[in-house]
Amino acid sequence: EMAEKSGYPHFMLKEIYEQPRAIKDAIHGNIDAVKRAAEEIARYEKIFIIAMGTSYHAGLVGRYLFQRLAKRVPIVEDASEFRYEFEDLIDEDTLVIAITQSGETADTLAAMKLAKKRGAKVLAIVNVVGSMATRVADMTLYTHAGPEIGVAATKTYTTQLTVLTMLAIELARVLGTADEAYLSSLEDGLQRVPDLVESVLKHDAALRELAESLADRRDFFYIGRGINVPTALEGALKLKEISYIHAEGLSAGELKHGPLALLEEGVPVVAVAPSGKTFDKMVGNVEESRARGAFIIGLGDREELRRVSSAFIEMPGIDELLTPIVYIIPLQLIAYHLAVLRGNDPDKPRNLAKSVTVE
Ligand code: G6P
Repeated sequence: EMAEKSGYPHFMLKEIYEQPRAIKDAIHGNIDAVKRAAEEIARYEKIFIIAMGTSYHAGLVGRYLFQRLAKRVPIVEDASEFRYEFEDLIDEDTLVIAITQSGETADTLAAMKLAKKRGAKVLAIVNVVGSMATRVADMTLYTHAGPEIGVAATKTYTTQLTVLTMLAIELARVLGTADEAYLSSLEDGLQRVPDLVESVLKHDAALRELAESLADRRDFFYIGRGINVPTALEGALKLKEISYIHAEGLSAGELKHGPLALLEEGVPVVAVAPSGKTFDKMVGNVEESRARGAFIIGLGDREELRRVSSAFIEMPGIDELLTPIVYIIPLQLIAYHLAVLRGNDPDKPRNLAKSVTVE
């Protein structure tokens, strides 16, 4: 087993480090495929994105990409809810995009089958070749991440985001909803993402030290805005899954509406705060949390954030639409180190399974 881990102590860490390569493969493997898929998607006004767990968070990022670039607002729903709540709304004019790493998640498969029965077109974004989801779907895009053994999804998430980014760019091109110059600059940016992820992995030792100083905390809060609200949700999910520390992810604007009451001396607040249209608002939210004694872990590319952070993780500057792929990396590493420091096996968290094949 040690050989399969190529010298890494856990599969999860190996898979975190494989992300630059996996993202490259996802890009190269989908250049033509997303063109065909975008032509098809362009015919539908009514679009649902369905998934569970980490794949659901990818779907939420997908919504921001679709709405910003293609001016189409998909409804993103967890598959277990979609099955029971949206049945009457699905017809031949509906497109359902199902995101599933394993292609075997019971709720996602059931939702796909229901959609097909009602005449909808189903596009799947899948990692495992030949899995059930690929047989149910009308069309499949593969994430090309390679096998993922750790229960907590890492490289399958960043490759799902890569595929969704490419799909949204191509859809915007077909629909003529964004400037071609901007779309090609985004494509160039995406090509640079594997190197940027590589550079962020260099924070690993510092993140381990940070984790050491936080190993006894009971609650973590993760805040973000816009396309990084899902990054906050996914960062919190990673922590819960493998470190068993209670964590909440939320939009920074929601802080004032309840969670602020839980902040006291030393409670970690992770602020996902790249440059972008809500940066100043995020700094305001951070200051508010800090005033209640929170320990601020700032992820960003601006001096103004460093100044208000207790610990600052410097991130590379990149178009805001590409930040979810890069900003999740330190959050995966923080969760991993906290799990190991607390004596857990991050590859096999208690009570959880890699793929949930029962409802
Ligand atoms: C399980 C796994 C998660 C995964 C979710 C959805 O809960 O532990 O890591 O995100 O299932 O799996 P899927 O294979 O459909 O993406």
